[in-house]
Amino acid sequence: MIKEFRGKTAVITGAGNGFGAELAREAARRGMKLLLADIDGPALQAMVAETRKLGAQEVAGFEADLSLYENVRDMIAKAVSLYGTLDLLINNAGIGFDGTIWEVPLNDADWMIDINLKAMLWGMREAIPIMMKQGTPCHIVNVSSSSGVITTKGMWVYHATKHGVVAATESTVYDLQLRGVSNIRFSLLLPGFVQTDLNHYNRHRPERYQSDDPFYASDTYRASQAYLDEVITHGAPIDNIAPLVFDAIENDKFYVFPQPELLAVAKIRFEDILQNRYPNILRLRGDDV
Ligand SMILES: NC(=O)c1ccc[n+]([C@@H]2O[C@H](COP(=O)([O-])OP(=O)(O)OC[C@H]3O[C@@H](n4cnc5c(N)ncnc54)[C@H](O)[C@@H]3O)[C@@H](O)[C@H]2O)c1
Repeated sequence: MIKEFRGKTAVITGAGNGFGAELAREAARRGMKLLLADIDGPALQAMVAETRKLGAQEVAGFEADLSLYENVRDMIAKAVSLYGTLDLLINNAGIGFDGTIWEVPLNDADWMIDINLKAMLWGMREAIPIMMKQGTPCHIVNVSSSSGVITTKGMWVYHATKHGVVAATESTVYDLQLRGVSNIRFSLLLPGFVQTDLNHYNRHRPERYQSDDPFYASDTYRASQAYLDEVITHGAPIDNIAPLVFDAIENDKFYVFPQPELLAVAKIRFEDILQNRYPNILRLRGDDV
């Protein structure tokens, strides 16, 4: 377990906005050496300057599209070459949108799978051998979502990526336990809707996922954007996220639920599984069916 953060190295992805920026501020206040990564150059540079002022021992920016494996690999290598160690990895960069499996364009689905799921898997893949070799207390935080343990309508690909992060993290924990590796601990952040920049995800769309699919001119698409604006701007305040995550790192907590009331929805899902019931959106909404 990491108990003393001063002088330790943290890599934080998606550090330009939202959760990543909050986590970078907290890591800076604790005197860590930071490598902040993001595709959003101006937001990243602003956070580099802010975290330097907040007390980061050292800080550098890594501007890259982390939906590409090579960039994730180079980010981890850069942290080690700059600071000599890798103690904390926060896999956070991600996007979110709504829409059905038969309407959302393939390029959007690929984009979400690449950044929400693959980037987090490749982050673990690159970091774990370094942390194993180091043998010192290390921690990996994977930012999933309450959508990683519950399922609701309209977010099939988001659910698929966030469930994937939960499953891959748990499976990796077992693999390390079987190998007798105990210096690397993990946490999963599982929030419901929180006020961040997530509804402006299109600002962070890499060139290779651009398309002129007619879906973007449809009422369905406009309605999905309006829904995302509504739920994110009326989401929970962001203030408790960084304290909860650092408490989890210091006190070895694995599942971090900022809105534990959402577990009631997870319970319905697990009752469906245990009782072999067909999923029903009305039951999910609390109706007696
Ligand atoms: N806000 C919520 O309601 C909520 C709830 C549950 C989980 N999450 C998860 O939290 C994480 C952070 O999201 P947020 O809400 O802070 O959103 P945000 O948009 O405020 O921040 C996401 C950051 O990731 C960066 N990013 C996006 N694509 C990238 C790419 N290809 N390469 C590098 N950086 C990239 C963005 O530039 C941005 O700075 C995401 O994984 C998201 O799924 C958010």
